[in-house]
Amino acid sequence: MMRLLMANWHKWLALLVFMQLLIWLTTGLYFNSLMDSADNVTTERLVQHEGYLPGRQLYPVQAIAAPPPVAISLVWVLGSPYYQFDYNQPLHDYYLKQRRLFNATTGVPWQISPEQIAKIAEQAYSGRATGSKPVLISPPIDDLPRQQNPLWQVRFADEYSTAIYLDALTGHVIKHTNDRQRFDDLMFTLHFMDYSGSGFFNHPLIIVFATATCLLSLSGGYLLIFGSRQRPAAQSATPVTLTINFASTAEPARLEVRPTDTVFNALSKHNIELPSECGGAGTCGKCRVQCSADTPVNDVEHYHLSEQQLASGIRLGCQQLTGTCQQLQLPYR
Ligand code: FES
Repeated sequence: MMRLLMANWHKWLALLVFMQLLIWLTTGLYFNSLMDSADNVTTERLVQHEGYLPGRQLYPVQAIAAPPPVAISLVWVLGSPYYQFDYNQPLHDYYLKQRRLFNATTGVPWQISPEQIAKIAEQAYSGRATGSKPVLISPPIDDLPRQQNPLWQVRFADEYSTAIYLDALTGHVIKHTNDRQRFDDLMFTLHFMDYSGSGFFNHPLIIVFATATCLLSLSGGYLLIFGSRQRPAAQSATPVTLTINFASTAEPARLEVRPTDTVFNALSKHNIELPSECGGAGTCGKCRVQCSADTPVNDVEHYHLSEQQLASGIRLGCQQLTGTCQQLQLPYR
């Protein structure tokens, strides 16, 4: 029974591993083709935000009436300087951020307007389509599944369905995407099995898959060592005659076979193939043959055959040695 259990596990694990290997192969070939591809559909353009400080009087940052932040930086938006007060410093840029902006020349709190967002998006786009009205959207965002901060979105009705996502506070471009980029993202997700969008290699699904691969190897090793029928040493040398009565012919066939071969293998060597979906692993139960009623029965046969079938001498060809089942009826009755 252990052998049958192992064979079943091995079969399903092999299917799982094979499917993922197929995905790796397909997506790997896709990435490989990308490297040689001249098919670049991006309409992305760099936006120059930086301006000039000389001649401008910066407002003293200590004089700004706001709770003390954990970090202060000077950021530029469309040529104007702003103080950015950070109230947290997340590990990744897409984690939730708590920030405020102040005009660096007046010290007044500042909020970007939809018109300024539209202007930045227009500068970031080199195509011919016109952008939609900017919309401030909240996570979850389909094009940026990991993003936890609200973003401005501007869509362009071009042939690539381009969309630009901009920081809610500064208006800086976070992502410029289109249908080609979306397909690339899907390929990456499949390749790295990152269906939850964690962005890491070491996620639970990879660990489960690695464990499944180890189990596949272990069950394969077990089946290699214990998977075949035990071969009685005493019978190993002398060939025996396997007599096969075919329902379709009057004359039986007599084959010289090794007594240590299974009926399934012995027949296969003489080009007689028994029905099978598992190639003799004992999991499909299809390779039925008619032996004599007193032929020994093993656990695998008990699992696949009814008591009535066993009593009438039906056995599995991959579980019987030719030395124990020398008279066959095909097909079985
Ligand atoms: S059980 Fe599948 S070939 Fe015997």
